[in-house]
Amino acid sequence: MMFEDIRRVASALEADIAFGAIVPAVRPDEIRDYLASRYTFSNALPLDDVIADVAGMMRRWHVQVTHPRYFGLFNPSVTLPSVIADTLTAMHNPQLATWRTSPAANEIERHTLAWLAGQFGLPASTIAHFTTGGAEANLSAVVVALARRFPQWSDGGLRSLPASPAIYLTGDAHGSFGKIARVTGLGCDALRMVSVDADRRLDVADLARRVDRDRRNGFAPLMVIGTAGTTAAGAVDPLADIARFCRSEGLWFHADAAWGGAAALSPRLRVHLDGIANADSVTCDAHKWFSVPMGAGMFFCRHPEAVRDAFRAHTGYMPQPTAGAIDDPYATSLQWSRRFIGLKLFVALAQRGGGGYVETIEHQARMGDLLRDSLARAGWTIVNRTPLPLVCFTRSGLDVGRFIADLCERQIAWMSEVRLGDSPPVVRACVTSLRTRKEDIDYVVREMTRLALRDSEVQV
Ligand SMILES: Cc1ncc(COP(=O)(O)O)c(C=O)c1O
Repeated sequence: MMFEDIRRVASALEADIAFGAIVPAVRPDEIRDYLASRYTFSNALPLDDVIADVAGMMRRWHVQVTHPRYFGLFNPSVTLPSVIADTLTAMHNPQLATWRTSPAANEIERHTLAWLAGQFGLPASTIAHFTTGGAEANLSAVVVALARRFPQWSDGGLRSLPASPAIYLTGDAHGSFGKIARVTGLGCDALRMVSVDADRRLDVADLARRVDRDRRNGFAPLMVIGTAGTTAAGAVDPLADIARFCRSEGLWFHADAAWGGAAALSPRLRVHLDGIANADSVTCDAHKWFSVPMGAGMFFCRHPEAVRDAFRAHTGYMPQPTAGAIDDPYATSLQWSRRFIGLKLFVALAQRGGGGYVETIEHQARMGDLLRDSLARAGWTIVNRTPLPLVCFTRSGLDVGRFIADLCERQIAWMSEVRLGDSPPVVRACVTSLRTRKEDIDYVVREMTRLALRDSEVQV
């Protein structure tokens, strides 16, 4: 019965959002004054009133990322099964720090992750856990790579290392690596920016040159980051070539497939992830192309002992480890108390089946192709090349900042401005909603073209 209620509310909301505004026009003081006038917390309010009010604020004062014309930064529309699963998790509030406190939840997560590891072609011995998101998964990769390569690092820290470690990635790799360099104490100078080719994919020849130069200069090359679906342009680095290079050089290969990892399910798209099976570790976010609510990232690693060593923890107050082939998540990952993150992916997969997901993923890829082709036919210049549904585009004389502001003001679509390397800004549109249809693409291309042509006439 409860699920019927959620279903009813969710489908009403979906319809309401699809026909409503995508982008709010609100100032911080407007929201602050509203909150200050209503919520002094000095007296109790009826729950129905609070929920209705909060729902109204969420409706009015958010970018509606589940709108079919939200073409944004990988924030998906969410499936009903995953919403129901998240509600169930909140109600039971299981603690996943140890296996013993939540046996069913731990096994459900393990089962789901093992299935996905198999989709990537990783070995059955792969260890994996859910994370808050891709940034935490990327941090886990760097921590495990450091701990494995330099066993003395865990106790002695960076000052105990014989040489400064270096991490190789392109300028288009995710910005989390800058933060990770700082929080691990490596410092941003440890990040080596490898050149990209014309399609913004990591240039393996330049990688080889940099690694060689670093070795000769006394640095300790540690790991290479290959991105499967860069945030800015959707580029997929040559994962197979990077894997081969890393193996021959004894470097750790981390594949950041936070967004693009879902393509592994698709018979049509998985060829682009060729090489991911040879990664030492993989980041993949369920809260991106798997269309479940935030935050649900995943970290996979083919070296279980390295993960156990990197995150080991001993206390006098946690339950004793469970006998057998059992890992307690608090001792094999960064988090301690843990939410049952994986249930939303498990339920969504169970309800749709892998085949259902393939349909959705390939539908979104087709919508990306349609957007790309329609824009080109309407006179726009496409400036990126990727098999994934992310299109970067511009046209002569376009004032990108103003154009995007107009798109939002007219509620045509949510798109963003992006700079690819040193080039001038262009428009970035990613199909992130499973509800985006051909009619939405036709509408945005028609309206954007009309807007751009009108602007160019005004300029003349
Ligand atoms: C390629 C890539 N890696 C990592 C991240 C970070 O993921 P999260 O925001 O889930 O922490 C993102 C976010 O967009 C991303 O695009």
